[in-house]
Amino acid sequence: MTTTTIACIGCGNMGGAMLGGWLHQAQEKGYVLRGMTRTPSRAAALVERGLQLLPTAREAVQGADVVILAVKPYQAEAVLRDVAPVLPQNSVVVSVAAGLSLERLRQALADRCPVVRCMPNTPAVVGQGIFALCFDHPALQESQKEAVRRLFASLGMVLDLPESKFTAFSALVGAGPAYVFQMMQGLVQAGVTQGFPRAQARDLVTALFAGCACMAARQDTPLMELRDQVCSPAGLTIAGVNVLDRAGLSGLLVDAVLAAEERGRQMETE
Ligand SMILES: NC(=O)c1ccc[n+]([C@@H]2O[C@H](COP(=O)([O-])OP(=O)(O)OC[C@H]3O[C@@H](n4cnc5c(N)ncnc54)[C@H](OP(=O)(O)O)[C@@H]3O)[C@@H](O)[C@H]2O)c1
Repeated sequence: MTTTTIACIGCGNMGGAMLGGWLHQAQEKGYVLRGMTRTPSRAAALVERGLQLLPTAREAVQGADVVILAVKPYQAEAVLRDVAPVLPQNSVVVSVAAGLSLERLRQALADRCPVVRCMPNTPAVVGQGIFALCFDHPALQESQKEAVRRLFASLGMVLDLPESKFTAFSALVGAGPAYVFQMMQGLVQAGVTQGFPRAQARDLVTALFAGCACMAARQDTPLMELRDQVCSPAGLTIAGVNVLDRAGLSGLLVDAVLAAEERGRQMETE
């Protein structure tokens, strides 16, 4: 079996989540996993599962096929400038740093090797992430794109996306868990108001979202039709749905995503 050596710089929330998913499949898929992080104790659980932790980023990236950059955006360029001279020229760097443009990543790397921009979302921690991958770098080979796609597909859903759509994606999908958890919280609050114990209300609402997501994923029926199937004439559901329509829930969600996108564009110029 051919092996793929993956070096992850920064093993915090996102780096740790991705490494956790890849470690799970390392034997089956031939992944060799290396990491380097500022506070090694944070990676102790990953080391127990087979991560090779190295003392410096330079040592971690030597001989790597794929280098994952998972430090905070303000720390990312310094890390790239440090490792650039020792990066194998046939390697590919994948940055998950939010808002850090391909142009800046290329400059920090001095074009030593191609770089892919990736935008994940938090369900990556349970292997259900959505990863936008930007393959706009002109030096990327097809085999490298395919290897990166396969790597991230093993952690959730992947989507090839030009960089020009990254802010829109971030506002809809990157920020998406915040909208969904807020809606879930509102329904849990309703359940508690009705007298369900809080833990039970949370379990019920969680199963409700998981079941609906599963139905939406498995069939082509328009979402409004799925909604209307639950609304019998003069029934209880239509009474609740009328309240949501009067409050303009759909319009509010559109406004929320557009406000997040506008803020994202502002942040790119700060
Ligand atoms: N979390 C998310 O939901 C999410 C979503 C989309 C994108 N992202 C992106 O993912 C990246 C990481 O975010 P995060 O939430 O995982 O942050 P985090 O938990 O703070 O993880 C960053 C890790 O990098 C380590 N680090 C800092 N400087 C370093 C250096 N010079 N060399 C090696 N390691 C270094 C930090 O060490 P310490 O432990 O010592 O601080 C920390 O463990 C960010 O760029 C963010 O934009 C995150």
